Amino acid sequence: MDMMSMLTEQGRREAEAVAARPVTRLLDHEGRTAVVTGAARGIGLAIARRLAESGAHVLMADRRTVDLERARSSLPAEWQKRISTMEVDVTGTPHVAALADYAVERTGRLDFWVNNAGIFPPSGPIRETQVEVLDRIYEVNIKGVYVGCREAARHMGRGAVILNVASIGAIKGQAGMSGYSASKHAVLGLTRSLAMELGKDGIRVMAIAPGLTVSPGNEELLDSIQQAGHKLATLSAPLGRFNLADDIARVALFAVSDMAAMMTGQLLVVDGGTTV
Ligand SMILES: NC(=O)c1ccc[n+]([C@@H]2O[C@H](COP(=O)([O-])OP(=O)(O)OC[C@H]3O[C@@H](n4cnc5c(N)ncnc54)[C@H](O)[C@@H]3O)[C@@H](O)[C@H]2O)c1
Repeated sequence: MDMMSMLTEQGRREAEAVAARPVTRLLDHEGRTAVVTGAARGIGLAIARRLAESGAHVLMADRRTVDLERARSSLPAEWQKRISTMEVDVTGTPHVAALADYAVERTGRLDFWVNNAGIFPPSGPIRETQVEVLDRIYEVNIKGVYVGCREAARHMGRGAVILNVASIGAIKGQAGMSGYSASKHAVLGLTRSLAMELGKDGIRVMAIAPGLTVSPGNEELLDSIQQAGHKLATLSAPLGRFNLADDIARVALFAVSDMAAMMTGQLLVVDGGTTV
């Protein structure tokens, strides 16, 4: 059987064009446009940095305006003309729509959208959980990501990629963090469903699951757990260290690049082997 003849003309052309490109060009995103939410610090900033390094125009969005400007100016001067910032709270649906519109107005296209903004306050033991904490977690981690996917998909065409930052909490439980873990399981369900829905349009939808990663937000969490007198249940990684934010960013770059052109709906776990 001639399997090649069973591909659609478009599928064959796209696959052959990727296969013909040298490996260094597969990570070259010159002329592409990326949006990263929660880009003022931590994992989002590291992802924005790698995307800018790969040549993309990067629109960094965050609700922390001061940190956002500091983050932008921490990036190399020669990339600055390709980087812009926007104050956005991902829980405000019109803000997220405006973010997508701005990206397209500025560059005429939208190739990558990284839903990274997320919060991780402990919801605590189930018998004591305050519903308000759950509402906050779900508002940012589920609704914010959902609306981000919607607005991105409205502007994207073939070859575009949505990347959702989940967590190893999307595949395993953690006592005292049930609200967060539930929200990240939801991100995985959303990723898989949208991959099925948007595949026919040539849009890939991926997720990444960081293990414990050094970031300002995580340091604040660990401080608050210790101050509350709780013992930290540490997860030990076979590779013997925590992630740095750039460990996540390099895999994020792979996930959106054409190196991964035939991957969609997948969760890439970056945890030094913690969950193996
Ligand atoms: N650090 C970890 O160990 C770890 C592990 C697994 C998953 N994650 C996920 O990675 C992502 C980034 O985490 P981080 O550790 O870099 O956190 P961080 O707190 O250091 O940075 C998060 C950024 O997101 C922004 N943000 C939060 N809510 C927002 C909102 N409503 N609108 C716009 N921006 C908002 C914050 O202002 C901040 O700049 C989150 O989705 C988190 O759940 C982190």
